Amino acid sequence: MKKKLIAGNWKMNGSLDANEALLKGLLSGVGQPACQVAVCVPSVYLGQCQALLAGSVIDLGAQDVSSHEVGAYTGEISPSMLKEFGVRYAIVGHSERRQYHGETDGMVATKVQRALGSGITPIVCVGESLAEREAGKTEEVVKRQLAAVIHVNGHCISEIVVAYEPVWAIGTGLSATAEQAQQVHAVLRAQLKAATSNADRIKLLYGGSMNAGNAASLLAMQDIDGGLVGGAALKAQDFLTIIAAAV
Ligand code: PGA
Repeated sequence: MKKKLIAGNWKMNGSLDANEALLKGLLSGVGQPACQVAVCVPSVYLGQCQALLAGSVIDLGAQDVSSHEVGAYTGEISPSMLKEFGVRYAIVGHSERRQYHGETDGMVATKVQRALGSGITPIVCVGESLAEREAGKTEEVVKRQLAAVIHVNGHCISEIVVAYEPVWAIGTGLSATAEQAQQVHAVLRAQLKAATSNADRIKLLYGGSMNAGNAASLLAMQDIDGGLVGGAALKAQDFLTIIAAAV
């Protein structure tokens, strides 16, 4: 059976001391989890976290990746640089990057291609805003976002992870219900099935106010293969509870 994936998205949180305390807390409680586990940390802390996680069951992830490999791109970090720090995953196209950094569907698709080319698994985020949901456009929006990634990456699409993150649920405490999330996941699964015969092995994560209390019901849904967890990933006990729910 496909293992679930629980990935923490620390966003722009942490410090040397706080990271060490959080990772030590996770490592002391995680044991041998039934699922895969990752933490996506701010880039400046990759070296620190790589050292703390060495040899453990927790994988390392980044929160973004450049669409370029090398050269005059001030501030950017290439996938091969991430690789040097043992990075396995990179979040790509998070709604905060789309919203605050002008990332388009096309840019996200190119970043996915670049990550795959370096052996990094992109966690590709899609999701609708509240206005789009209320206008009945949820399906249209997530399909458009995923279609751009499929278009550029062809059969390599079976190597990605997808995270459905309704923008209205991120950081608001207002999670989608398990049924609402499953409905969108089924749409995404069908779209992936039309693109690759390996669609069943692609992990579809849910993200948006997943927490210790709602994780089990979300993760019980047929097409929900894990979670991308923001706020609750910053508290060791909450994140461990979510990991334990991912069976
Ligand atoms: P949240 O964030 O769990 O704090 O809602 C999730 C995300 O943005 O990935």
